Amino acid sequence: MITADNLFLQAFKTASEEQYFAPGRANLIGEYTDVGGGNVLPFAIQLGIFASLKDREDRMVNVFSLGEKASFSLDDLVKSPVRWLNYIIGVFYIFKTHGIELEKGFDVALNSDLPTASGLSSSAALEVLFGTIIQSKAEKGKVSDWDIVKFAKETENKFIGLNSGIMDQFACKFGKKDNCMLLDTRTLEFSYSPLDLKNNDLIIMNSNKQRGLTESKYNDRVKEIASGLSDLKPYMEIKDACLLNYEEFEKNASHIKDPNAYKRLKHLILENQRVLKSAALLKEGKIDEFCKVLNEGHQSMRYDFESSGKELDTLVDLALKNGAKGARMTGAGYAGCAIFISDKRDTKRIINEVIKGYKRECGRKCDCYYAEASDGARRIK
Ligand code: GLA
Repeated sequence: MITADNLFLQAFKTASEEQYFAPGRANLIGEYTDVGGGNVLPFAIQLGIFASLKDREDRMVNVFSLGEKASFSLDDLVKSPVRWLNYIIGVFYIFKTHGIELEKGFDVALNSDLPTASGLSSSAALEVLFGTIIQSKAEKGKVSDWDIVKFAKETENKFIGLNSGIMDQFACKFGKKDNCMLLDTRTLEFSYSPLDLKNNDLIIMNSNKQRGLTESKYNDRVKEIASGLSDLKPYMEIKDACLLNYEEFEKNASHIKDPNAYKRLKHLILENQRVLKSAALLKEGKIDEFCKVLNEGHQSMRYDFESSGKELDTLVDLALKNGAKGARMTGAGYAGCAIFISDKRDTKRIINEVIKGYKRECGRKCDCYYAEASDGARRIK
């Protein structure tokens, strides 16, 4: 792969002076719980986006990415017809609303090995990458790591229009090599824990079916959750969806008008319990039991939250049928990626079978990556 430094040289005919990196993330379990005040268990992966840059004397930001150059001015932070550029403009816009602005623009070349729109948080990586660049150029101490995470999420919510939770931006920034993170998305307390799968591998399966989240059903799900909660409100004390007591919820379920809203809430409550159980099992080194909980998580996404899809279900089923201990979709779903965990001795065979079966059943190529838990977004030079 050509480096970001070389791309910069090609695009701007001079050498870059700074370099940054932001990783994507995979989520072990805890899908959509971050929109219900629950827990998540993600980790940053080794794939990500590199940025090589050099300051300019004026207020332009010129970005070279995916073979095209796109520009905007720090004085004109409005939506662009260039779709991917909006994730960058949006970050500058949101930082500005918080009183943080750079004096000068810069030229920047981006290089990525992170598949885009694939459920591995390519958009959060881009947002956090530019948040990290702004942090490094702003007055020392003015922008904290949590500011980057929160402003990146705000970019997604207010500038892009996706009502997502905080998991992706958090994982891209706070990732730590060989660790996963248990984050309580209500209090924002989190802890690192070794992602030690003993004699097992963790594989990411890319369905190569892309999805644009804003067009997908993500915001619909958020609305369904809210409607279910509002039906329950007269009958139950409600803080966050994930904190509802499951027995009490079932007792009051007849008050929920939309059957889908019932299923979404059921998923959130039980998924949150699964996250806590998974984190404990992982700590105790009980990998086989941990995998069983991941499997339950996938079925819940498939039948109750209904955010899986033919491609992801096919990948998960093929992995399990061929001997994986655990498999589930990761991220927002609909398309994108799934993960599986298998005994190291079985991994290659399972990968081959999944690739063959997926081609046969869905007519697409599946790419598999050995996942490594990695450090979060940072300045490299
Ligand atoms: C997307 C969102 C996250 C989270 C996941 C599903 O990745 O950005 O906030 O809700 O979907 O777990």
